[in-house]
Amino acid sequence: MMQIRPGIHWVGVRDPDLEVFDVIIPTEYGTTYNSYLIEAQEPALVDGVKKEFEDEWFAQLEEKINLADLRHLIVNHTEPDHSGSIKELLRRAPHLIVHGTRPALQFLTEQVNMDFNKRIVGENDVLDLGNRRLRFIMAPFMHWPDTMWSYLEGEGVLFTCDGFGSHFCFPEGRILASQQEVDFTGAVEYYFEKIMGPFKTKVREALPKLEGLELDLIATGHGPILNTDVDRFIRLYHEWSRTGQQGERKRIVIAYASAYGHTKRMAELIAEGAAGHPQVDVVLMDAARADPEVVEQAVSSFDALIVGSPTINADAVYPIWRVLEAVSAINAKGKAAAVFGNYGWSGEAVALLEERLEKMRLVVGHPPLKVRFGLTSEDEERCRAMGATVAESIT
Ligand code: FEO
Repeated sequence: MMQIRPGIHWVGVRDPDLEVFDVIIPTEYGTTYNSYLIEAQEPALVDGVKKEFEDEWFAQLEEKINLADLRHLIVNHTEPDHSGSIKELLRRAPHLIVHGTRPALQFLTEQVNMDFNKRIVGENDVLDLGNRRLRFIMAPFMHWPDTMWSYLEGEGVLFTCDGFGSHFCFPEGRILASQQEVDFTGAVEYYFEKIMGPFKTKVREALPKLEGLELDLIATGHGPILNTDVDRFIRLYHEWSRTGQQGERKRIVIAYASAYGHTKRMAELIAEGAAGHPQVDVVLMDAARADPEVVEQAVSSFDALIVGSPTINADAVYPIWRVLEAVSAINAKGKAAAVFGNYGWSGEAVALLEERLEKMRLVVGHPPLKVRFGLTSEDEERCRAMGATVAESIT
C-alpha cells in the first residue's frame, strides 16, 4: 500500500515472476496489478487484481479501510487480471455499488454469478463521492469492448486500467514512474503493440477525449504510475496508434524453409519482386535457421506474410508451422498472405499452409505458387510476379 496523492492509495500487487501474459504474450519484466482506494465521504475502489493475489490485496485494503465503509467499486475493465478478486470482495462487502460500462457489468455478472448493486455508466457520467467527483470517459476496445477511463475532476488524475500500462514490475515501494531507475518506455510500447495494437482505430478515437483535460497523473492498471512525462506518453500513444496508416511504408515478411535450395531460390525471387515497390520493406527469413525470438519479432507486425515450404512426408516442415504459430491471429486478422513451395513428388505443403492461414483469417489473395524440382525461367518470373502483386495489393 502506498499513497500516490493525498487520499489516493495504491492497493495493488506485484507479480514479478509472471513470464507469459494471456498465454501468448511473454512478459520479460513481470507485471503489477494496480488497484486504487480513493478516500472520500463515499470511499471508492478502482479496479481489482488477479484472483491468486486476492489475499495480499485484501490485506492491503483492510489496512486502510474497513470494507463496511467502502461505498463504490469502479470497474474500468473486467479482464480477470483486474476482476478476479471482485467476487470475494462482493461476498465480503455486498453493499458495494459497482460502476462500469454496460459490457463491463455484463461480463462481471457472468464472472461472479451472484447479484450485486450495479450502475451502468456512459460518456461523461459523474459519480459524486461527496467531496470528490469521478467522471467517466468511454474508451471502448482499449482493448475490450468494456473499457473506460475514470477522471478525478479538479485533481488531474486519470485511472486508465490497461491504457498506458506496461508489464513492468516496479521494485518494491517504487511505484511511480519518477522513481524508476531504468527507462521503461520500451515496456509501455511493447504493451501497446501487443494489447492495443489490433485496435489502433479505437485508440485514435479515444485519445482526443484527453485534449483539454488538466492531467498530471495517469494511474494505470499495470506497471509504474505515470506521474511524470504524462504529455510524452500521450504523444507516444498518438504516434503508435498512427503507424500502419495509409501513406506509410508497408512491410512484407517472407519466411521459408528449404531442403535443397529451390524453395530458398523462390523466396529470394519473390523478395526481389516485392522489393521493387518503392513503398515496401521486405524481411526475408530462413525460418529453419533463425532464432525463435527473431522469428517471433519478425512476425509480430507485418502487412503481408508470405510463407514457403518444401513438402516432406506429405506435410509442410516444422520451422514453417512454427512461424504460423508465432503469428498472432488477432494482429494478423485480415492481413494479406501468400504461399509457395518447391516439391519433388506430391507437394501437399502449399495447400496445407494456405488452409491454415485462411483459418487464421488472413486473406490469401494470391494463388499459391508450386514449383516441381528445378526452376525454369518462367517459374522465376512467376515468383517475381508474386512478390510484385502482393506488394501492389497492400500499398
Ligand atoms: Fe490487464 Fe486487459 O487486462
